[in-house]
Amino acid sequence: MATMGCLTLLALFATISVISASEKAPVLLWSNNKEQALPSSLIGHTTENLGDGFMDADQNLIVFLQDKLSLDDITKHADVFNEASDGATFHHLKGLMEQHHSAYLPSVSSPVSLVQNLREKFDGAVHDVSGESLADVAFDDAKKNLVMVTLPSTAVAKETALSKIDGIFERMTREMSALKKPFTAVYTGRGSSQAPAESFYQGRHLLATADPGANYTFINLTGCIYFYMTQVDFYYFTEHWELPQNPDVDPSSDCTNGTISLILNYPAMTGLTDLQFIFEFSSTPSRMWTLDYFNLTYTVSGNSTGSGNNVPMSTALIPDTPEKFSYHCYQGPMINETGKNVTNQAAVVFTSLQVQAFNLSESFGYYNDCVGFFTIPIWTGIITTLLLVSILTFGVLMLLSIQTMDRFDDPKGKAITVNVVE
Ligand SMILES: *[C@@H]1O[C@H](CO)[C@@H](O)[C@H](O)[C@H]1NC(C)=O
Ligand SMILES: *[C@@H]1O[C@H](CO)[C@@H](O)[C@H](O)[C@H]1NC(C)=O
Ligand SMILES: *[C@@H]1O[C@H](CO)[C@@H](O)[C@H](O)[C@H]1NC(C)=O
Ligand SMILES: *[C@@H]1O[C@H](CO)[C@@H](O)[C@H](O)[C@H]1NC(C)=O
Ligand SMILES: *[C@@H]1O[C@H](CO)[C@@H](O)[C@H](O)[C@H]1NC(C)=O
Ligand SMILES: *[C@@H]1O[C@H](CO)[C@@H](O)[C@H](O)[C@H]1NC(C)=O
Ligand SMILES: *[C@@H]1O[C@H](CO)[C@@H](O)[C@H](O)[C@H]1NC(C)=O
Ligand SMILES: *[C@@H]1O[C@H](CO)[C@@H](O)[C@H](O)[C@H]1NC(C)=O
Repeated sequence: MATMGCLTLLALFATISVISASEKAPVLLWSNNKEQALPSSLIGHTTENLGDGFMDADQNLIVFLQDKLSLDDITKHADVFNEASDGATFHHLKGLMEQHHSAYLPSVSSPVSLVQNLREKFDGAVHDVSGESLADVAFDDAKKNLVMVTLPSTAVAKETALSKIDGIFERMTREMSALKKPFTAVYTGRGSSQAPAESFYQGRHLLATADPGANYTFINLTGCIYFYMTQVDFYYFTEHWELPQNPDVDPSSDCTNGTISLILNYPAMTGLTDLQFIFEFSSTPSRMWTLDYFNLTYTVSGNSTGSGNNVPMSTALIPDTPEKFSYHCYQGPMINETGKNVTNQAAVVFTSLQVQAFNLSESFGYYNDCVGFFTIPIWTGIITTLLLVSILTFGVLMLLSIQTMDRFDDPKGKAITVNVVE
């Protein structure tokens, strides 16, 4: 049992340490604005954003966007392992980084959305440039300016292209300095030029088994919610129905207003008609997504009759889950009606439920499981281990406390006599 507990722990850490291979690119920054706080990054860490300091400062921004860029491009073409190097292909860039207040972030996730974000939040004039000079740009002296430079393609003749790009840095930086306004330059790529070594698997492979006519229900509502389950059971007093797979998604389902409304219509079954599941999800300011409502409409006829129209069910079905995480529960609890009038006892039980709302990627994110981390087998493992370790400690302490005698009886000498005073 102890071994099992340890293995479970090991497996868990192994899973956590697997990193997803998403598009990451390095970002280089240089600025003539000494007040500008530049972000810093720890080696091996991925940065998600550059901070808001860029927007607040009264300065121009210039963003150089290359089609693809990776750490290897810089190390290889800038001759970085040679201390006396002049920077090889990137010698202007090296000079710029040295002369200016600069920063280097080796790994930034999704640089495209970062640049997009910069563009959206920027309150000033935005100019798009694809040439090699800023001569044609109509700078607005009254406002801040953001220049988005699309660098030449590096797909063919990389070395030559990078050399040209290095020249562009030099020229445009000079032109920016000439504007007599502080500026910060950002150099990054739309994606990584490194092919991912292999696509890592993160979390469960539920979507990998996608085959039509399958034994599960999977709903992808216009890319804003994934909803997977293998079975749903509907209970009404003592009666029970196992619901069919792949219910119809009601056309009124939508996710345009910051909330997700998902409505599932089940086909009529004997004794159970008009069955409709209504889910409403929203995201909270604390970067969680939450199930606001789970309402049920049903009509039961037959041995027992009853109906419910949009009756609220317990939202304990799905607890609040952090953004980008999915919620998973292999054997869900029985979800009952919660209204004041609970004489109509409809209940549902979901099996192998996995849901993720908002911030979706190609598959479910890492899962928040309904079975907590400290399950009974894990506790049993830990307690057994502690017990065995304490027995061992006791034994070792006992062994250490054995002392050799400091006096021995000498058979030739006088016998030791101990006077006993009575
Ligand atoms: C679905 O699973 C059930 C039980 O696991 C099995 O009896 C059934 O044949 C499966 N159906 C399909 C279409 O795979
Ligand atoms: C979900 O739908 C969106 C667009 O409707 C699509 O881009 C995405 O690939 C789909 N995801 C899955 C897992 O099918
Ligand atoms: C979104 O909300 C606005 C105002 O609250 C409303 O007018 C509009 O109809 C809503 N759109 C949808 C699709 O629900
Ligand atoms: C209704 O009750 C009868 C007798 O108790 C039973 O045989 C029958 O299966 C029940 N029907 C349903 C739909 O539960
Ligand atoms: C669910 O039911 C509750 C109580 O009747 C109601 O306030 C809420 O608006 C309903 N939710 C939806 C999405 O219809
Ligand atoms: C739901 O109803 C069932 C049967 O009526 C009951 O046994 C169970 O405790 C209820 N669950 C909750 C969470 O109230
Ligand atoms: C509660 O449910 C019963 C049976 O369905 C119904 O007769 C009664 O009017 C309901 N009470 C309220 C307050 O809704
Ligand atoms: C996740 O989605 C919510 C709601 O659409 C959005 O406000 C939030 O910025 C997104 N978070 C990330 C990290 O994309």
